[in-house]
Amino acid sequence: MQDLTLEQKAALVVGAGFWSTVAVESAGIPAVVITDGPHGVRLQRAGGDALGIGESVPATCFPPAAGLASSWNPALVERVGVALGEESRAEGVGVLLGPGVNIKRSPLCGRNFEYFSEDPLLSGELGAAWVRGVQSRGVGASLKHFAANNQETNRMTVSAEVDERTLREIYLPAFERVVTREQPWTVMSSYNRINGVAAAENHWLLTEVLRDEWGFRGLVVSDWGAVEHRVPALTAGLDLEMPGPQGDSAAAIVAAVRSGELRTEVLDNAVRRVRALAERSLRLSNELDEPDPLRVPQGAHHALAREAAAESMVLLRNEGALLPLDTAQAIGVIGEFARTPRIQGAGSSQVNATRVDSALESIGAVAPVEFAPGYSLDPRVHPEPLIAEAVAVAARSDAVLLFVGLPARDESEGYDRTDLDLPAAQVRLIRAVAAANPRTAVVLTNGGVVSLEPWHDSVPAIVEAWLLGQAGGSAVADVLFGRVAPSGRLAESIPLRLQDTPSYLNFPGEGDTVRYGEGIFVGYRYYETVDLPVRYPFGHGLTYTTFSYTDLEVSADGRTAAVTVTNTGDRAGREVVQLYVAAPAGGVPVPKRELKGFEKISLEPSEAIRVHFELENRAFSHWDVSRKAWVVAGGRYFVEIGRSAHDIVASAPVELAPPRPERLTLDSRVSDFLGHPVTGPILARAAGGAEDGESTNLLGMVASMPMRRLMRFPGVGESFKRVGVLIALANNPVVRGVASLFRRR
Ligand code: BGC
Repeated sequence: MQDLTLEQKAALVVGAGFWSTVAVESAGIPAVVITDGPHGVRLQRAGGDALGIGESVPATCFPPAAGLASSWNPALVERVGVALGEESRAEGVGVLLGPGVNIKRSPLCGRNFEYFSEDPLLSGELGAAWVRGVQSRGVGASLKHFAANNQETNRMTVSAEVDERTLREIYLPAFERVVTREQPWTVMSSYNRINGVAAAENHWLLTEVLRDEWGFRGLVVSDWGAVEHRVPALTAGLDLEMPGPQGDSAAAIVAAVRSGELRTEVLDNAVRRVRALAERSLRLSNELDEPDPLRVPQGAHHALAREAAAESMVLLRNEGALLPLDTAQAIGVIGEFARTPRIQGAGSSQVNATRVDSALESIGAVAPVEFAPGYSLDPRVHPEPLIAEAVAVAARSDAVLLFVGLPARDESEGYDRTDLDLPAAQVRLIRAVAAANPRTAVVLTNGGVVSLEPWHDSVPAIVEAWLLGQAGGSAVADVLFGRVAPSGRLAESIPLRLQDTPSYLNFPGEGDTVRYGEGIFVGYRYYETVDLPVRYPFGHGLTYTTFSYTDLEVSADGRTAAVTVTNTGDRAGREVVQLYVAAPAGGVPVPKRELKGFEKISLEPSEAIRVHFELENRAFSHWDVSRKAWVVAGGRYFVEIGRSAHDIVASAPVELAPPRPERLTLDSRVSDFLGHPVTGPILARAAGGAEDGESTNLLGMVASMPMRRLMRFPGVGESFKRVGVLIALANNPVVRGVASLFRRR
């Protein structure tokens, strides 16, 4: 540290430009190039526009996260990560900004295409795989946006008002999983505030949780332009402000150190982390040759993008086995998106693809095709003539592939959607085409969930194709004609109505406040718990074969489970085996079930595989706010295997012991005394015996009172005068142990 002046240190913790950190040559600290992410390398050469969103160098555009997540395949995501790492290396990029593991709280979030899921386990597993892949190539990841950044409306100023249990169970675990398993080189703090405190200035989040609890060793970087007050941000644990140089940030740091407002150690720690990041990327780039984009195996990466796109599609509906199609049939291809694919969402993640496959060309290469655009992407074009032309094509085709979806302007970083609807002209098109040809399959292009309601029942087959990246067109042909069996599963629920979504009344909030009033009941956790029907549940997805489940076995302690899955159809296929845990109701509110494990397997016809799961304590725990810890409430749990969060095919009970009772004090509630293994039976007897209905009622009535207050009631102090003795007995570990033994009998 002595080789750096105070001014140099202050400069190092603020970026050098849009996409680079500061270099200090005299101290041998090189600059690190940082670039977006997450589904491709968006590198802007020096001299790019000042906003940092213009043209970038060509790079493979993999499927954005909404698609990739539907693969439920961490191994695939890791391979995509490796390819992203290779492309970053070849361009001299030290940190690739991604993955985004924010939870899809509302289907309206404008950036949902960049996020994985409504479920923290799925988001965390896939995010960890992405980081593993990228970092295996000596490029750092930047896990974002930390935390509770679940909407675009007022994203720079809004305060997410979230209770701690909800943060711990829903909005933080994906970050926790990635940090504890993969140690990303960097974590990016988000724009928003959390319970009033800016994420960038949030000591609890950036230091107490991230570093002290989870053991994060990397660097915390701000989201671009998120830092409002540089010195408090530094104190909270935000090491690097990006982009830079920002106004007077460095000067403010120098002044704060000189005045004693900022301790030198705090600055030194941040400098040390910037330095470590620079050394890490330097060390690794020394091991390789100079950056050279020609080294990227573009053909292989395009092939991987195609494989990933095929796994990202979800076959939602396939009545009468319309799909896969026979290549000998005359296919009507309808919809401008078949000819002009929309491959990604708008904003900072937008990649300049190396090439783009269209579905129209790819389908035309395998089957005889007649095309009609059906609608125009230019809203000024009158739709009716296009619909009429499409209907004529549909009527003379053997089968129709109908490509519809959200126009690019509907989905972007920076703003949210206001409804779930497809353009009205497209809905009219679907109905008209389906009436002209009952053998119609709809292929959807959208980053966030859309409503299927106005037309769902009119078509026999629906493929949710999300945004599939540059090879989506060829991948669609692979799946529709059965060269690849569809194997995607929904990573988010498709509701019947926007009004049904759990955050409906609270999204996107009022002014600069958004209240997470639905708490832990996000996505399927809500629909399943309140028994509300959805169009398609989380985890749903069909393929061209069928599977059966047998012999679910769960160990007595719930730590291991196994189930046999058999391919009962006549085609090979992949199944996503989903394990849910249903915790006992009573005590704290709990969702009906929660995903706690999943495994994607491939099965030939008649093949059977025994799938094994290992479950951690956490799978049975909730966040106990008073103990500030994960607690297994105890009681009868069920380990369930589901084809989706709604369709449970096997279930086995597990009895788990309650946690050690907390120490009793006079401030403990009467119910704590009654539930305690030592004092419970004694009190019940003193009150007249548990069988006596009236006295049990009486105890029930005062159960929520702190003991100290009950004792103040006239006459009560008498019968409870030995409470002090009871407390001493209850808190004695030997007595408690013996009592628990008796109780278990
Ligand atoms: C986005 C980040 C992105 C950064 C750099 C911000 O506006 O929220 O996701 O990485 O810009 O482009």
